[in-house]
Amino acid sequence: IAHGKPVKRVPWWVGKRDALLSIAGQATPTYAYDLPTVRDRARDLSAIDAIDRRFFAIKANPHPAILRTLVEEGFGLECVSIGELQHVFKSVPSLSPERVLFTPSFAPRAEYEAAFAMGVTVTLDNVEALQRWPDVFRGRTIWLRLDIGHGGGHHAKVNTGGVAAKFGLSLQRFDEFVDRARALGIRISGLHAHMGSGIDDPRHWRVVYAELAGMADSVGTIEIIDIGGGLPVAYTPDAEDFDLAAWRAGLEEIRAAYPRFKLAVEPGRFMVAECGALLLHATQVVEKDGVRRVGCDAGMNALARPAMYEAYHGIHNLSRLSDVELLEFDVVGPICESGDVLGHSRLLPAATAEGDVILVADSGAYGMAMASTYNLRALPAEDTIE
Ligand code: LLP
Repeated sequence: IAHGKPVKRVPWWVGKRDALLSIAGQATPTYAYDLPTVRDRARDLSAIDAIDRRFFAIKANPHPAILRTLVEEGFGLECVSIGELQHVFKSVPSLSPERVLFTPSFAPRAEYEAAFAMGVTVTLDNVEALQRWPDVFRGRTIWLRLDIGHGGGHHAKVNTGGVAAKFGLSLQRFDEFVDRARALGIRISGLHAHMGSGIDDPRHWRVVYAELAGMADSVGTIEIIDIGGGLPVAYTPDAEDFDLAAWRAGLEEIRAAYPRFKLAVEPGRFMVAECGALLLHATQVVEKDGVRRVGCDAGMNALARPAMYEAYHGIHNLSRLSDVELLEFDVVGPICESGDVLGHSRLLPAATAEGDVILVADSGAYGMAMASTYNLRALPAEDTIE
């Protein structure tokens, strides 16, 4: 508690321990998703009038119940592959193509053709595609994805701006793109940028909006500006929840400065990270050279984020939540790599033992979506809680 206002929400799973233990009793590893939490995050964003269109970046979590929940809450869906496009129309039969945005990277020609045939909005981010495949784009209405030259995020691997990133049209080629598009009878109705994932500074998105809005007039046909996703989540114990009020104030201000355009956002992580709990069983507890380790029945194969980005996820022993005697453990998986560590030096009950249910928190975004069958271990199961 700071300044009399809570800075971090109490996690939903504290009140749903019995339901989670029963899900874990069926099978582990299992991702459990709390749909009311998804709804709460959706309503956080729906309450912001400055935003006209909200797309959920389904790459974070394409579970059909989550997609249906978000579409019910008024969200559109952002897809990056033909597989994702087919998946959203199958998962949400009532979905109309106007609510779907296709934002691929280095996709083959056939995927653009298929996306146009489906009637979804297509985003393009390079001149070369217009040069090589003029017939695919001639006469179409598209959005243009730009790289404003600087990005951010929780790790270098998710920064999508600047020379090192493969995404977005360089501002230096903006005029060239617009001229070529015009020659092909293409109408550019939206400008788009997504500059990274897990960006802490609420001012970031107003900078993006201002940059894009400043360029929009020279195109003449821009109706909407999409400032991407990238909203952060408070994964660590000392992190505060994202300052939505500051974010909102920034967006309202910048929209007032450029009132001609509609504003779109496309968050992934923010919508679904907190709703997910990865449930595991402890397999072995081992001491080696003074280091205690709790082994679990899945590790980097179920949740790649710690191994891939040194990402932090809270880890709790759901079977012994009220134990007060705690010790430090490394929490590891069964994969044959030294990087298969879900958490270093975590305080867990001293009595932690084989068979305990271990919960890995805030794992609803880029968890199951990035899971693999490495070492021929089965993919996690998934379950939802209403
Ligand atoms: N829009 C575009 C064009 C994107 O590429 C992404 C994510 C998003 C929206 C949603 O970003 P979000 O709001 O979730 O930050 N696997 C990494 C994150 C990769 C993000 C890829 N693009 C992780 O686990 O942190």
